[in-house]
Amino acid sequence: MSVPLLDLTRQYEPLREELRQAIDRVCESQRFILGAEVEDFEREAAHALGVAHAVGVTSGTDALLEALMALGVGAGDEVVMPTFTFFATAGVVARLGARPVFVDIDPIDYCMNPQQLADRVGPRSKAVIPVHLFGQAANMDAIMEAAGGVPVVEDCAQAWGADYGGRPVGSIGVMGAFSFFPSKNLGCFGDGGLITTADDDLDASLRKLRVHGQSGPYEHPVVGGNFRLDALQAAVLRVKLPHVAGWVEGRRANADRYRRLFGHTDLDGTVRLPDALPGRGHTFNQYVVRAARRDELRAFLVERGIGAAVYYPLPLHLQPCFQDLGYSEGDLPVAEEASREVLALPVFPELDSSEQEEVVAAIAEFYAG
Ligand SMILES: Cc1ncc(COP(=O)(O)O)c(C=O)c1O
Repeated sequence: MSVPLLDLTRQYEPLREELRQAIDRVCESQRFILGAEVEDFEREAAHALGVAHAVGVTSGTDALLEALMALGVGAGDEVVMPTFTFFATAGVVARLGARPVFVDIDPIDYCMNPQQLADRVGPRSKAVIPVHLFGQAANMDAIMEAAGGVPVVEDCAQAWGADYGGRPVGSIGVMGAFSFFPSKNLGCFGDGGLITTADDDLDASLRKLRVHGQSGPYEHPVVGGNFRLDALQAAVLRVKLPHVAGWVEGRRANADRYRRLFGHTDLDGTVRLPDALPGRGHTFNQYVVRAARRDELRAFLVERGIGAAVYYPLPLHLQPCFQDLGYSEGDLPVAEEASREVLALPVFPELDSSEQEEVVAAIAEFYAG
């Protein structure tokens, strides 16, 4: 039996009719750019996330980019972030001419180490970007304190539905950036993203920046971009939104089941399971274990038709495009070690128990061999 890392057809099938009707509704209206569909989605998303404002944008990458533009990040500025994250978190900083300053992660939650943040934040810091990696909230109280008043933009791309001590991610920093890439907890039919904020002025600037900084017809007090969420994507997201809490519960139930199944093996010490820390609302967008002989294990699983992936094989401070920032191997050792050991296993909500048993049996077979 093969077990995919992710099978979105299982999510699509029960919603097929409703989704097609929503798409039809947009086609009939012939209103594809912003408009009522996007406004309705923004209102519903803001309500679901417990935030005052939600601004629909083109992708998670553009959500981060636009949030930094709204803070005025540019040449000469520094933005502090963890080195162990998807490229976009740092790419947007470099694109604005600013300097990404990388800090190490905590070995248990994989998120930014607050002490290192406190050490690196300084007079040039224009923003701090904690990443709620794999779907678990970063240590936000400690991060907010370490940031010392420097604006915090939460990268929530992987963490729709997570909360820190009851506060939804995206509602703690000055802004939150979400991605609706299809594999996320809430995914659309292409690219999409969202910026959240409680600040009325930031909301107003985000709405301007997403239409080329336009304040009135052909009047541009600032330079923005085309960061508009499509009405078609908004319509798809509106159908999916009421289901996302249930899907997150499904991911959590699958994580619990993995813990029980691994508990019946003698892999303790060989395969380390992810920790759902108290008060961090882990949503398991990815179920990431640490494994001895990781690359061999991955090849073994893939050979048997079991999906397994490495997020991320190279921390950002060691990426070729950031060589001129002057980092070397050994500078951020916790992330470097994680990059050699992490392996994501299938955890999507519709995964069934026999598939999870298959995954765990194959892993046990690998180490027995
Ligand atoms: C942590 C993180 N930040 C940002 C992004 C960028 O989101 P998008 O792919 O929607 O541009 C992603 C998407 O994979 C991500 O995982």
